[in-house]
Amino acid sequence: MKVAKTIKSVRNLVKAARSKGKKIGFVPTMGALHIGHISLIEAAAKKCDFVVVSIFVNPTQFGPGEDFEKYPRPLKADLEICRKAGVDVVFTPATAQMYPQENLTWVNVEKLTEQLCGQFRPGHFSGVTTVCAKLFNIVAPDIAFFGQKDAQQAIVIKRMVADFNMPLKIVVCPTVRQADGLAVSSRNQYLTESQKKNAPLIYKSLQKCQKLIADGVADSKTIINQMRKILQQAPSIKIEYISIVDADTLQELKKITGKVLTAVAVKIGSTRLIDNILVDVNKR
Ligand code: PAJ
Repeated sequence: MKVAKTIKSVRNLVKAARSKGKKIGFVPTMGALHIGHISLIEAAAKKCDFVVVSIFVNPTQFGPGEDFEKYPRPLKADLEICRKAGVDVVFTPATAQMYPQENLTWVNVEKLTEQLCGQFRPGHFSGVTTVCAKLFNIVAPDIAFFGQKDAQQAIVIKRMVADFNMPLKIVVCPTVRQADGLAVSSRNQYLTESQKKNAPLIYKSLQKCQKLIADGVADSKTIINQMRKILQQAPSIKIEYISIVDADTLQELKKITGKVLTAVAVKIGSTRLIDNILVDVNKR
């Protein structure tokens, strides 16, 4: 496994692999790697011949007062995980490598970034799309792999790739969960022991939603109220949003129909956690 710190070196490594006819798979991450990230690496290894992982805590997607400074950066452990997973190249640029001067060019996906997390993290998605556009230009993969865990992010990235005719495919992989249902996240390590006991209520509320839809409940408000009741079992959980939206347009749905995305964001203490489920009502 090679570790590339510069754009030039990662480009050269990918170019050499491509010249041997290899299909390039790419997994962009911010590090603090866990089994969710590993599942993306495994999917990339299955579909591609050469796997590149980037580890870069991207400052432009964090808002003021968010956790950019305290975001975990266990680089040595991350490299070990990548090595064991059979990654070919890890790209670990310094901030000055990615942003050598004031960034004046931003990629902004409209509409799809206005709902859900977009309402609560202004500027976040423009930081994500901008860094992903840069990373796609640098790595030039055939396929990039994203997690359903960040459903809105995956939808926004897919739209950017389509709108800008970027020559790569986006594959979205299922959310990896702990045994108690909590979606695995680099931010889970911020939780105290008692907060960890309450966090699985997030997935419990989503399972409730799934059950209600399966039982034929079609009124979003009714479902959201039931979900809220579950989350309110833990006073430490502060609900940011519970939204039931069309899975393609992300527009709020009053009545459950078609492909439905139910997304939840909460704060437990100062830790912000998100999760979601997709239900295709036609396939119920
Ligand atoms: P990060 O939070 O490190 O996540 C990297 C990728 O791992 C994302 O595609 C995310 O959806 C996926 N992922 C995280 N937890 C997962 C889980 N439990 N199951 C499946 N996939 C999971 O998302 C980012 O970084 C950044 O915004 C990035 C795209 C790298 C741009 O900076």
